Amino acid sequence: MARDWVRWHDEYDVPGSSLARRLEVVRDCLRPLLDRPRRVLSMCAGDGRDVLPLLPAGSQAVLVEWDPALAARAEQAAPAGVTVVTGDAGITDPYAPVAPAEVVLACGVFGNIPYADTCRTIEALPTLLAPGGTVVWTRAGAGAAEVRDVFAANGFDELAFHEPPDARFRVGVHRLRRPPEPFVPGLRLFTFV
Ligand SMILES: C[S@@+](CC[C@H](N)C(=O)[O-])C[C@H]1O[C@@H](n2cnc3c(N)ncnc32)[C@H](O)[C@@H]1O
Repeated sequence: MARDWVRWHDEYDVPGSSLARRLEVVRDCLRPLLDRPRRVLSMCAGDGRDVLPLLPAGSQAVLVEWDPALAARAEQAAPAGVTVVTGDAGITDPYAPVAPAEVVLACGVFGNIPYADTCRTIEALPTLLAPGGTVVWTRAGAGAAEVRDVFAANGFDELAFHEPPDARFRVGVHRLRRPPEPFVPGLRLFTFV
């Protein structure tokens, strides 16, 4: 049965919950990256509460979310310059208007796709990023170690990795070290499971 992602978001509103704590860590990672108007994309954006309140005026952002109710919430919270796409974040096409992006969010993605898709997505990130562009990502539990390895193998420097000892969530920040690559329309990155 398909997961109820609207209900999944309810945990954000429980003070001290794992998701509420993860949100604060993600926002702390984003703040220094959003020090001026930026080009931002968010894959599987949910209701966008991590990035939308932090976007400096003049930013351009594309948030891609499959669930129409969550996309509608994101749309409501979105300032000017933000496009919310209700659709498949696993293919590059919706990112075309904002690529190359300076900041990419992949939060709540890598734990829900096969490892091969995680590898394919990270390998393709240089086609979505501007020079020195940064990715903020999350992954629960032991799988985060694999994600860090894949970033390292694909020319990214690790700027931060947060692993609170009393929580399962992990949050990483990786910056593209090598030159970016041209945007590739129609490229399949991942399929959500
Ligand atoms: C674990 S939640 C993460 C949401 C948000 N990024 C966050 O961290 O709060 C995963 C989200 O991916 C969305 N999703 C699932 N399949 C998707 C797809 N193919 N394209 C876009 N979004 C998708 C779900 O509806 C859900 O909102």
